[in-house]
Amino acid sequence: MGSKSSVAIPPQLVKLLEADDNQKVRSHSYYVFNRSTMRHMSLLKTLCLFLFLLITAGYFAIKPLPSFGSHHDLQCSSAAWEKAVRKSAQRKEGGRLVVLLTGAAGFVGSHVSLALKDRGDGVVGLDNFNHYYPVALKRARAAKMKKAGIFTVEGDLNDQKVIARLFSTVTFTHVLHLAAQAGVRYAVHNPLAYVHSNVGGFVTLLEQCKNTVPQPAFVYASSSSVYGLNSKVPFSEDDRTDHPASLYAATKKADEVLAHTYNHIYGLSITALRFFTVYGPWGRPDMAYFSFTKNIIEGRPIKIFQGPNHEELARDFTFIDDIVKGCVSSLDTATPSTGSRGKKRGKAQFRIFNLGNTQPVPVGRFVSILEKHLKKKAIREIVPMPSTGDVMFTHANITKAQRALGYNPQTDLETGLKHFVKWYQTYYAKGSGHEDTLKGYMPF
Ligand SMILES: NC(=O)c1ccc[n+]([C@@H]2O[C@H](COP(=O)([O-])OP(=O)(O)OC[C@H]3O[C@@H](n4cnc5c(N)ncnc54)[C@H](O)[C@@H]3O)[C@@H](O)[C@H]2O)c1
Ligand SMILES: *[C@@H]1O[C@H](CO)[C@@H](O)[C@H](O)[C@H]1NC(C)=O
Repeated sequence: MGSKSSVAIPPQLVKLLEADDNQKVRSHSYYVFNRSTMRHMSLLKTLCLFLFLLITAGYFAIKPLPSFGSHHDLQCSSAAWEKAVRKSAQRKEGGRLVVLLTGAAGFVGSHVSLALKDRGDGVVGLDNFNHYYPVALKRARAAKMKKAGIFTVEGDLNDQKVIARLFSTVTFTHVLHLAAQAGVRYAVHNPLAYVHSNVGGFVTLLEQCKNTVPQPAFVYASSSSVYGLNSKVPFSEDDRTDHPASLYAATKKADEVLAHTYNHIYGLSITALRFFTVYGPWGRPDMAYFSFTKNIIEGRPIKIFQGPNHEELARDFTFIDDIVKGCVSSLDTATPSTGSRGKKRGKAQFRIFNLGNTQPVPVGRFVSILEKHLKKKAIREIVPMPSTGDVMFTHANITKAQRALGYNPQTDLETGLKHFVKWYQTYYAKGSGHEDTLKGYMPF
């Protein structure tokens, strides 16, 4: 990927891609082409058709399209698919929950699904394996989960058919919704990808949850980015969140208010988790800590952003294991939804929690820790922060999560980065089979 030319996918094309598979589309054009024998068509018509096919083919060739349907192990709704879904949803001894986990092939999703499965809970994953960052990493995470007995359905949140099929196959007690178009800077290049997944997909999933009897409890990932341009620190859940600095943040804020309506009207039990810069093994290649590590190892300069008055950026970096505990505990403490068939029978739970580390670290210090673990100096290039939506600092007040979830982050940045670097060096080592999977990738 890494092509900076990628723009929004027009809705018609999205529809096309969401068709069960691209096969249909292709065979259709083939049919048209076959019938268009010269005898029955004017030269002009043939020329038009040719041009149309050329442009269409060109479009598909140029665009790095999401991979819906390309790696399907099992066709949705086949008997084998249903069997795999049911098996993955089965609880083992000690297991209490049956969870639909969206974004399962993602960074946070893969970790949480393994933790739940390990406790004996039933887990079914859903992910569309899109190419926002190198998809090989998503495949590798899913392969690891498969070994642990977790089946990841390959499908899009917006595909009502797949979603409905999942819910008619399994009775989910909980939905942990982590699938999203993430990343702040990419929103400048492809805003509609955010609307598609974070707004359209979000509502599709809530609709399904609201219509299901019994309704599952719904826990989902919001983001610290909803605090936007707030300057009061630390960020507390009751602070205003109505001046986002990026379109990504705006879609996460939209999720919080959309979720509120489903809670209010239909009695869905809702928990929003505002994650603060999550990092760790199997992390996201589009995030700064990841590309810093890559560039330091490869001897390339790293860009460190600076504010208008030369202030340093600071982030409340949160280690993945702490986030996993916060997610699992949110599921455990979620009370059941109260609605049925379009009506609520009583007030349902509505919660919002910060999940951070409460120790903001300036990026410079962060790079120094990386240098220490990598035993190599970084080439630092200090540049002014681009105006694409990053905020100067984040700092979580986690009192609420401490009280309600027993959330208590244990891992400082020094220790967490050590784990990350160790994973990175092993995973991408020469001869690992993964060493080329980041080739040519440039985060936005
Ligand atoms: N990692 C962080 O620092 C951080 C911070 C704040 C919030 N979050 C939120 O946490 C959640 C998980 O983040 P992550 O870091 O694991 O990101 P990730 O990109 O690794 O995981 C998200 C997964 O969702 C999938 N997905 C995206 N759109 C989809 C769609 N329409 N249908 C089906 N699957 C789709 C992607 O393929 C990906 O595997 C996201 O909602 C993200 O916005 C993350
Ligand atoms: C942190 O949050 C708690 C609970 O919401 C609140 O009572 C407290 O005042 C906040 N602390 C600060 C320093 O903002």
